Amino acid sequence: MSEALALHGGDPAVPEGLVDTRWPVIDDADREAVVRALEWPSHTAGSPEVKALVEEWSAWQGAKYCLATNSGTAALHMAVAAVGIEPGDEVITSAFSWTSTATSVLHHNAIPIFVDIDPVTISLDPKLIDDAVTDHTKAVIVPHLHGLSANMDPVLEACQCHGLRLIEDCCQSHGAKYRGKKVGTMGDVAAFSLNQNKNLAAGEGGFLTTDDEEVYEKAARLWQFGEVRRPDGTRDMNAHGMGWMYRTAGLPASFARSQLTKLEGNTRVFQENARFLSAALAEIPGVEPPAEPEGYEHVYYNYAVRFQPQQLGLEMDARTFREKVSEALNAEGVKVAPWWNIALPDMVLFQNKDGYGKGCPWSCPHTRQDISYENLDLPETRRWLDEYSLVRHLHAPNDLQVMKAYVAAFDKVFSNLDVVLA
Ligand SMILES: Cc1ncc(COP(=O)(O)O)c(C=O)c1O
Repeated sequence: MSEALALHGGDPAVPEGLVDTRWPVIDDADREAVVRALEWPSHTAGSPEVKALVEEWSAWQGAKYCLATNSGTAALHMAVAAVGIEPGDEVITSAFSWTSTATSVLHHNAIPIFVDIDPVTISLDPKLIDDAVTDHTKAVIVPHLHGLSANMDPVLEACQCHGLRLIEDCCQSHGAKYRGKKVGTMGDVAAFSLNQNKNLAAGEGGFLTTDDEEVYEKAARLWQFGEVRRPDGTRDMNAHGMGWMYRTAGLPASFARSQLTKLEGNTRVFQENARFLSAALAEIPGVEPPAEPEGYEHVYYNYAVRFQPQQLGLEMDARTFREKVSEALNAEGVKVAPWWNIALPDMVLFQNKDGYGKGCPWSCPHTRQDISYENLDLPETRRWLDEYSLVRHLHAPNDLQVMKAYVAAFDKVFSNLDVVLA
C-alpha cells in the first residue's frame, strides 16, 4: 500500500475545485440568444427561433424533414405513430435503455418486446431480432446508448428481412457515427433529446428527423393536435386523428441554436478526454473501459466502465465489488455511479402489465394474449447491470488535467484494493 486513501483521511487524488460539474457550459452567446428570442413578437412554436433551429438541425443532421419537440420522449412517440404502429402491434427493442424507448410504444397502445443487449454496444443484440419476431411485429426501436451507435448493418438486415420499420433512438448520441454515417440517418425515422444532460442540451427539448414525407406528415399530427402541418409550416386547423401538444417554444429553441454552434467543439472535448482515460484504464485489471470498435465514432455522452472482480480472480459478487471501489473513487473525487439499475421488463409497469388501468394495452383485443415479461432470459443485460458505472464530468471545460487526476484516483484505488475491499 502507498498513499492513504481519501476514504481513510488521505488527500483526494482529484483536488477539490478541479472538476467543473456544470453542464452545459453557458457563455455570453447563450445569454444573447435567449434575450434575442424575447424580442420576437411570438414565443410559441411560431417563433422564428424554432424555424431557424429546425433548418439548422436538419442541415447538421443531414435530414430532409425535422420537427422540434418539447422532449425526446415526444419525438419517440411521434416516431412510433409515424411508422404506422397500431394497437396491439409489437415493437422489438432493447431490455436496457431509458424508459421512454419502450413506453413510447405503449403510448400508442402497442407492445414492446424486449431482447438482450450486445455486450459491446450495450444496445440490442441484432442476432436476437429474428427469434423475437411474431406476426404482430411491425418495427424495431434501436437505441444508440451512451454516445455509441448500435451495430446497424445486422439490425438493418433483420428489418429488411422481416419487413419491419426502424426507429432510431438517438437521444444519447448526437453526431455518433457507424461506418461513416451519422446515427439517425439509417432508419425510417429518428428521435433526439435536448434534455439538460445531453451533449446538445437546452434544458428540455427534442427533434424528430426523417427523409420520408409521409412519416413527417404522420408525426406532425401528433406534434400538434392531430392537424396536418405542411413542411412550409402552414397548418389546416382540423383534427385528422389523435394529436398531442409536443411543440417546443422560442426560448428553448434559441438556447438550443446557440448550443448547436458549440456541439462539435464540445464533442471533441468528450472524445479527447474519454480516449485518454480509456488508454489508461485499459491497463488496470478489473476495469473495462467503454468500447469504440473500428468503424464506430463514439461521442461519449456517458463514459461507462465495467468493474470486473473475476478479472482479478476475486470470488466476490460484481455489485459488491462495484459498490466498494465506487465508494473509494468517489472519496478520491471521481464521481462514479450507475445510471439505471434495472432491466426495462423488470419494471413494475411491465411486470404488472398495466399502462392505463384495466391492463391496457396488454388486455386490448388486438394484443397477443400470451405476452409475458416474467424472468426473461437476459444474461448480458443482467451482467451489465451488475458491473457498469458511469464516470462523470468528461465534458468541457474539463480537460486532460482533470483526466490525469482521474487516472491517479483509479490507480490509487486499484493499487490499494486489499484495503478498499476489506
Ligand atoms: C435513450 C433515451 N431515450 C429517450 C430519452 C427521452 O428523452 P427526454 O428526456 O428528452 O424525453 C432519453 C433521455 O434521457 C434517453 O436517454
